[in-house]
Amino acid sequence: MDRNGLARMPYPLVSALSSGPERTVRGYHPAVTTFRLDQSDNVRTKAERDTILADPRFGTVFTDHMATAVWTEGDGWRDHTVGPLRPFSVHPAAAVLHYAQEVFEGLKAYRHADGSVWLFRADANAERFQRSARRLALPELDTAAFLDGIEQLVRVDADWVPAPDGEKSLYLRPFMFATEPFIGVRPAREVTYCLIASPVGSYFPSGPTGVNLWVTDEYVRAAPGGTGEAKCGGNYAAGLAAQLAAQENDCDQVLFVDAVEREWLEESGTMNVFVVTRDGELVTPGLGTILAGVTRGSVLALAEDHGLTPVQRRIGVGDLRAGCADGSITEIFAAGTAAVITPIIGLRGKDFDLTVGTGKPGERTLALREHLLDIQFGRAADTRGWLRRVV
Ligand code: COI
Repeated sequence: MDRNGLARMPYPLVSALSSGPERTVRGYHPAVTTFRLDQSDNVRTKAERDTILADPRFGTVFTDHMATAVWTEGDGWRDHTVGPLRPFSVHPAAAVLHYAQEVFEGLKAYRHADGSVWLFRADANAERFQRSARRLALPELDTAAFLDGIEQLVRVDADWVPAPDGEKSLYLRPFMFATEPFIGVRPAREVTYCLIASPVGSYFPSGPTGVNLWVTDEYVRAAPGGTGEAKCGGNYAAGLAAQLAAQENDCDQVLFVDAVEREWLEESGTMNVFVVTRDGELVTPGLGTILAGVTRGSVLALAEDHGLTPVQRRIGVGDLRAGCADGSITEIFAAGTAAVITPIIGLRGKDFDLTVGTGKPGERTLALREHLLDIQFGRAADTRGWLRRVV
C-alpha cells in the first residue's frame, strides 16, 4: 500500500510522489521516448473481431491493448508501456475527478488497399496535445513519445484496423489526466498518459447525407482567454446541455456563437464549420476561441485545388440568415477527425429555420470530402507529406 491507501499497480497509476532530482519544469522531457511492449495473452478471436469490424458503431468497442505512461514532478515521464487494455484504478481524490485537469486528442489510422496502415498528420496532433497540456498546466509529452506510443499500439493491434470500406478506420484517443490524490486547487504533481484505440465507421449514423445544427443563443462554448483552443474534456462537458437542447429541437448537433456579442460563429459541438459562397470563397472562423482542427487546417490547404479561396474571417448569424435566403451562401459543412467532412443541410435557431442551398449535401462539400478521404486512404497522391506509414 502507498501513503494514499492504494495498492501499488505495476502500471499505469502510481500514487506516491517521488522525490527525484530537482527537475520541476512541467515541460521537462526525459530521454525515454519508446514504449515497452507487454503483449496481452487475452485477445479477442478473429471471429469476434470480424463481427465487430463489419459494423463498428462509433466509439463503442476498443482494441486489445492500450499505451500508458506516468509523469511525476521532479522525475518527468516514466513507465512507458503498451500493455493489455484494462480498467484504471484511481484514488477518489485524484485531481481530475474534482478539477477536470485533462486533455485529449483524436486521430485515425487508415488501412490502404495494399494492406498497409497509415497515420494522417499525427505530428500536428502531437503539437496540439502539447499546446492543450500547457493551457491546462499539465506536462507536455514530446512528439517522439507521442508517435512511438501510437505506432506501437497500432502495430500490436493492427488486425483491428478495418479494411478500407467507406470511412472505416481505427480511431486513436490519446489523453492525459491528473492522478495525484489531493484536495486543493493547484496543478497536479502526478499525471497519467493513456492511449486507446477504437475501430469506427461514420460519426453520424446518417453519414454524409447531411445534418441539421441548432444555433444556440443560450449557451456559449468559450470566451476570450478561456480554454476554447485547448482540447480538454471540460469544453465538451460544458457543451452537453447545448447538445441536449439541439436534440430537443430535432437537430443533430449544436452550433455555438461567440460569448461577447452572441453573433459570430465559433464551432459546432465536435467540429469546425465552413461556409462556401457563390463567389467561390471557403470561409471559416479564425482561431482564438475555437479548436485549431487538424481537419480544418487540411481543408483550408485543399481549398485551392477545388477552385475555392480559403478565407479565415468572422461569419455572423445575420450573414448566414441573409446568405442562405439570397443564395450567396451555397453550402455549409463541418469538419473534424471523427466527423471527417459532414454537410450541414439545415440551421435552426429560436426564431429561424434555414435550409442550406438545396437542402442536400453540396457539390463542393462532397468533392472536398472525397479528396480528403482519398488522401487518407492512399487513393490520391500525398503531395503534402501528411501520411506516415505504421504497418
Ligand atoms: C474528433 O473529431 O476527433 C473529436 O475529438 C471530436 C469528438 C469525438 C469529441
